[in-house]
Amino acid sequence: MKKPTPGSSALFVTCASLLLACSQTNTPQTSTTVSPGTSPSAGISPQGSAGQNSNTIYIGIGVAETSNVALLGQEQVAGAKIAEKYFNDKGGVDGTPIKLVFQDTGGDEQGAINAFNTLINQDRVVGIVGPTLSQQAFSADPIADRAKVPVLGPSNTAKGIPLIGDYVARVSAPVAVVAPNALKAALKENPNIKKVAVFFAQNDAFSKSETETFQKTVKDMGLELATVQKFLTTDTDFQSQATNAINVKPDLIIISGLAADGGNLIKQLRELGYKGVIIGGNGLNTSNVFSVCKALCDGVLIAQAYSPEYQNEINKAFRDAYRAQFKKEPPQFSAQAFTGVQVFVDSLKVINAQSKVSEKPLAELRTQLNQQLLGGKYNTPLGEISFTPEGEINQKDFYVARIKMDADGNNGKFEFLK
Ligand code: ALA
Repeated sequence: MKKPTPGSSALFVTCASLLLACSQTNTPQTSTTVSPGTSPSAGISPQGSAGQNSNTIYIGIGVAETSNVALLGQEQVAGAKIAEKYFNDKGGVDGTPIKLVFQDTGGDEQGAINAFNTLINQDRVVGIVGPTLSQQAFSADPIADRAKVPVLGPSNTAKGIPLIGDYVARVSAPVAVVAPNALKAALKENPNIKKVAVFFAQNDAFSKSETETFQKTVKDMGLELATVQKFLTTDTDFQSQATNAINVKPDLIIISGLAADGGNLIKQLRELGYKGVIIGGNGLNTSNVFSVCKALCDGVLIAQAYSPEYQNEINKAFRDAYRAQFKKEPPQFSAQAFTGVQVFVDSLKVINAQSKVSEKPLAELRTQLNQQLLGGKYNTPLGEISFTPEGEINQKDFYVARIKMDADGNNGKFEFLK
């Protein structure tokens, strides 16, 4: 059961037409909050004249564009922008273009709260794709939920995210579904694995959630959980934890952390002589770790909720667009961000077919959009997806990839296991 949404007062009382009030795209992040009742009146953009942007639908993207978490967030921005162009080239929402409004959350909770407040009250978006971290979602999503603004988590994989509220759903499959796949793949390739050391970032909600799944799976598979080592996502020196782990002579080390810390930990484990298998969790699922652990990233196994090889029309279009721009295969975080935008656009089209989206009051549209998106089915780059009534993603296809680095450590890629 979701938590009941407190009956909040209508934020946008007199919106005769919702698509109007958002001239501030890509504004710098600000903590200014327009309180209910003082928001710009309908049809008058915060800095512009009435109806200046009346023929546009604004969708918020609140992810980490700065800080260490931007190692993940940059990929989300890329995926969202490809979606914006893709859907606008196809006519937007039945002829009405969409425009993404980006607000940088940075890497912490307060940044996410500020970005969400700005997107909700100032940019007046119909819904938000974001934030990057579960740690941020647990603080920022309740704000959107109280304001009755639908949120699609693009990468939040901790247990419990959809239960934050009725307006919170996610396109990122949870740790319980994704993480065990990496362990099964490691065991399949290395049946002699017996002893496991587990690391997790104790200051990060996702890492704490993921390690629970990993630790349970280790035990369920009859393996020995020899040691559990903790660190912080802000740590750069892992010598003592790495030494503790190596001393128990593990055959497998599993890391739940984020890209910068996780990459450094991998590097230091290898430098200290660890030669066994390493599994990285979802927070390390980015080619941005390559520049951190370089050649020493080689061989790390990471479960995937997306495969560039997935065969459908929209993934082909997404993959072609990504490869044309970035000269490499699209990563999971980009595919999930694209999917978040797609779910909003597809849902808006269904609503528009019943009555014109551009004529609806914003508050009404946000609520309708939330209901519609939870009930729909979507053919996305992740494959066919839908949602449970709570907002949890139903997704069929998962994968595991291995990092393959060139000998000089400058270039690498994810090789998907068969
Ligand atoms: N999957 C990571 C999280 O949920 C990025 O925070």
